[in-house]
Amino acid sequence: MPFQRVLSFNEVAAARFSRRSFLQGATTALLLSSFAGCSRKVSPGIPIGKADQLSLPEGHSALPLLRWGDPLFEGAPEFDPVKQSFESQSKQFGYNCDYVGFLSRSENSGLLVVNHEYTNTELMFPKLEVRDGRFWLTPDQVETEWAAIGMSVVELEKVDGSWRVVFGPRNRRITVKTPMKISGPAAGHPRLKTGADPSGSRVLGTMANCSGGKTPWGTVLSGEENFQEYFGNLSGLAVLDRSRESLELFPFAQGASTRGWERFDSRFDLAKEPNEANRFGWIVEIDPEDPNSTPVKRTALGRCCHEAATVTQCKDGRIAVYMGDDSKFQFVYKFVSQVSDSTAESPLDNGTLYVARFEDDGTGSWLPLTFGSGPLTPENGFEDQGDVLIMTRKAAKLLGATPMDRPEDIEVQHDTARVFLVLTNNTSRGHGPYPGAVPSNPREENRHGHILELQEEGGCSSATRFRWEPFLVCGNPNDPTTYFAGFPKEQVATISCPDNLCWGPQGRLWIATDGMRASVESPDGLFSVPVEGSEKGKVTEFLRTVPGSEVCGPEFTPDGETLFLAIQHPGEGGTYHQPLSRFPDGKGPPRPTVVAINMQSTRV
Ligand code: FEO
Ligand code: CA
Ligand code: CA
Ligand code: CA
Repeated sequence: MPFQRVLSFNEVAAARFSRRSFLQGATTALLLSSFAGCSRKVSPGIPIGKADQLSLPEGHSALPLLRWGDPLFEGAPEFDPVKQSFESQSKQFGYNCDYVGFLSRSENSGLLVVNHEYTNTELMFPKLEVRDGRFWLTPDQVETEWAAIGMSVVELEKVDGSWRVVFGPRNRRITVKTPMKISGPAAGHPRLKTGADPSGSRVLGTMANCSGGKTPWGTVLSGEENFQEYFGNLSGLAVLDRSRESLELFPFAQGASTRGWERFDSRFDLAKEPNEANRFGWIVEIDPEDPNSTPVKRTALGRCCHEAATVTQCKDGRIAVYMGDDSKFQFVYKFVSQVSDSTAESPLDNGTLYVARFEDDGTGSWLPLTFGSGPLTPENGFEDQGDVLIMTRKAAKLLGATPMDRPEDIEVQHDTARVFLVLTNNTSRGHGPYPGAVPSNPREENRHGHILELQEEGGCSSATRFRWEPFLVCGNPNDPTTYFAGFPKEQVATISCPDNLCWGPQGRLWIATDGMRASVESPDGLFSVPVEGSEKGKVTEFLRTVPGSEVCGPEFTPDGETLFLAIQHPGEGGTYHQPLSRFPDGKGPPRPTVVAINMQSTRV
């Protein structure tokens, strides 16, 4: 169908992506002149072509390793934005790279596992029809989007000091159509049964894959975050329909969804197949070593807008998984496996899911989400543990968990069970009917976010009690509400909207941001900070990203010599024909890209 420009892009975009702040034209020029620190390779300036590169300290380079559309298999088509299809996209690197996990196989080889969180329709296709303020996709376009999200597994090898992609036998694309198993206590539950799957244990695909984590047994966990965006027509369900109980825990569209997938596949239509949405919002486990393995949704880890899943092994041998539910006033979770359970196929199928309660005096506890205990009973709508897990948010609220400022990534020091928890921001705190500031979420209208440090009791991640204290309260250091673990503020960089975390050389914590354009009128970036010693809290800026993008998935190789980084949604806020960025190629549409940064000369 012909392209009809019915609405301005900004009107369409505002309707589609209300959760993201949009740029107003190109007014968010990179403010590199105010950068305090190392000399930079890139000088400031807009428009595109001058500032449309990553800004890094001298001595480092960021090479594009995997761009949206890059072929991953022998014979796969080269990227061609005017010839997109499910067939081609499912053989190419997906869109909007988020989590990046590197699994080392030798000094010079490894697997990269990458989440593809969502698509920017307006940046992907040169021709788009708009109807009623929404993109009206063609069947080919929607199928391309189904292939562009999910996950990628890519073999890498290091040649002459540089990592490069190999068309190896483990390469794999996981999409919205990939068959998956559902395991754990909710598998087979009536709320998970659909017309296509009367067993309630098989589902097609994963989506909204945000961050993730690696397990000690070599698999990768991926969090299904904003899955609600992909379903429409909640208003078509009868008011008293029992399915509403689980659906109303998420902000589903009452009518047509912004993506319109329900026009193409009725499983995305809540009025026709209300249980399909219950089959998303889980943690998915994939085995990157076996491209024929079936990914598994692990229901014991609960259902929410999962950001990440950070795994550690407790001193007693049990597995603990820390997880955040990234929505305003949602909660922080921890799953702890049973001590030894020979009946479970996986330690992630049998254990206890806890939710965090932060007391104002610096103590805290992990409250078990166990059917039959406390309020988790039939009187409150829970008939079994499956109900508790499918309606995790409801169970956590009833238990008295602490509503947080958008819990995102979490990292744990494995030997000490010190836990660093990111709260990215929450501009609604203290507004209208919403909760006000409390010590664990200490600012009303929290625009800049904060990071808490937890110490598990006994230095063990299976503990049910912890102590907590603020680590960073982010923002411009001149802002009196900020705090940097007590480090002198005149020596720290402005950091705002922390999102992803990873550990780097010398035990530093690396922090990627999402939202600094809106909060401090500066590009998002990558920062590092020591977590102990005399420099604890000294936040240093390392990288600034390109217009429209956030920085995701920092991941170091074990030798610390390479840092993989995902540049997600470059150019967001523009259109295919008028992009704010043409990263990384300088021509054509912007392409979400994983870059490899050489860190041999690290001075930060
Ligand atoms: Fe997908 Fe919470 O960021
Ligand atoms: Ca994130
Ligand atoms: Ca992480
Ligand atoms: Ca984010």
